[in-house]
Amino acid sequence: MNNFTYFNPTRIHFGEGQIAQLANEIPSDARILITYGGGSIKKNGVLDQVHAALAGRHFLEFGGIEANPHFETLMKAVEVVKAEGIDFILAVGGGSVIDGSKFIAAAARYQGDAWEILQTYGSKITDAVPLGTVLTLAATGSEMNNGAVITKAETQDKLFFFSPFVQPRFSILDPVTTFSLPPRQIANGVVDAFVHTLEQYSTYPVNAKVQDRIAEGLLRTLIEEGPKAQANPQDYDVRANLMWSATMALNGTLSTGVPTDWATHMIGHELTGLYGLDHAQTLAIVQTAVWKYKLAAKQAKLAQYAERVFDVRDGSQEQKALAAIEQTEAFFAAMGNPPRLSAYGLGEEVIEPVAAKLTAHGHVALGEHADITPEDVQAILRLAL
Ligand code: NZQ
Ligand code: ZN
Repeated sequence: MNNFTYFNPTRIHFGEGQIAQLANEIPSDARILITYGGGSIKKNGVLDQVHAALAGRHFLEFGGIEANPHFETLMKAVEVVKAEGIDFILAVGGGSVIDGSKFIAAAARYQGDAWEILQTYGSKITDAVPLGTVLTLAATGSEMNNGAVITKAETQDKLFFFSPFVQPRFSILDPVTTFSLPPRQIANGVVDAFVHTLEQYSTYPVNAKVQDRIAEGLLRTLIEEGPKAQANPQDYDVRANLMWSATMALNGTLSTGVPTDWATHMIGHELTGLYGLDHAQTLAIVQTAVWKYKLAAKQAKLAQYAERVFDVRDGSQEQKALAAIEQTEAFFAAMGNPPRLSAYGLGEEVIEPVAAKLTAHGHVALGEHADITPEDVQAILRLAL
């Protein structure tokens, strides 16, 4: 196991009815901006619960944050924060609303051109408006981490930043809020959480038994519960297990003391930036193609994954690794995110533009060995046609 430092200061309120905790979590004299997306929280009653918890408080609202949140939209919210003296941001929604709100929080207190925040990966942030969240889509882990992914629509650049200043002070995870998710977003959430786990697991062994077994537990849970959520959307226990799996998959626990990959995400972000695919659709396309390309380097962990997650008992290490790839593709397809570009109407034409965007962004040495170049990415995408 490698050395690590671990700290996660986000307070979690988990379970039905926990939105009422907002009354205790947000200072009574705060000037609050409630941020949200395209309106799902109005239809499913979540916004009503937020209003009830904040009765008598000073709050304004900023809606319209789109999936894969746009820099251009978020800068309008930054103006509201500055003009209205907002000192607390409450993000109510999925990863896009939470990520967008992290950016608003940092940009409102940033000196200079706010796009620099993305260009410098958040390293120059020195302050941010305090932020809390009410999560409505179990997927990204953004509710309990300090990362965010923002898209500049004008240039199709989808870039990420990290900063301890944007770590949520608290997050409210009420599984009931996820009952209204459409099948496409159920699939996306399960696949995103699954691939987050894999990005921190399917590398090479470092004898990190705790991290490996937590990862394998999350993967097994997602495989068991994901299809149930599609079949029976109002099953509380299923939603609760999915919600906590997704948070645990990217709250820093799994990456302690182990190598991490993230090539699938880096390639996937370019596919979304250029072609508008949902984040988790890109992950389903790219993940197993990376494994096929890097089979020798990843074989030991993939065989372990086959044994412990899919109960594959027979065959050589390579045969087990190949079985794991096959089973993973079947799982993605069963959830609703098929693992090929062609399933989304895309083909060879994407290969060069994706590699060119990665080069332009300086992401030219991907993976746990930092040995995946843009040329390698082209070969990986050919395996995903
Ligand atoms: O906008 P509304 O109307 O709310 O509708 C949303 C949106 O259309 C809908 N939705 C959310 N909760 C709902 C609901 N519909 C019905 N009932 C509910 N309870 O779902 C749609 C997608 O929402 P979005 O927030 O975009 O989904 P997700 O949570 O998957 O977030 C994806 C974004 O997060 C980034 C992705 O790149 C992408 O931009 N990521 C953030 C990460 C992080 N901060 O750590 C890590 C991830 O790897 C990922 O990159
Ligand atoms: Zn992701």
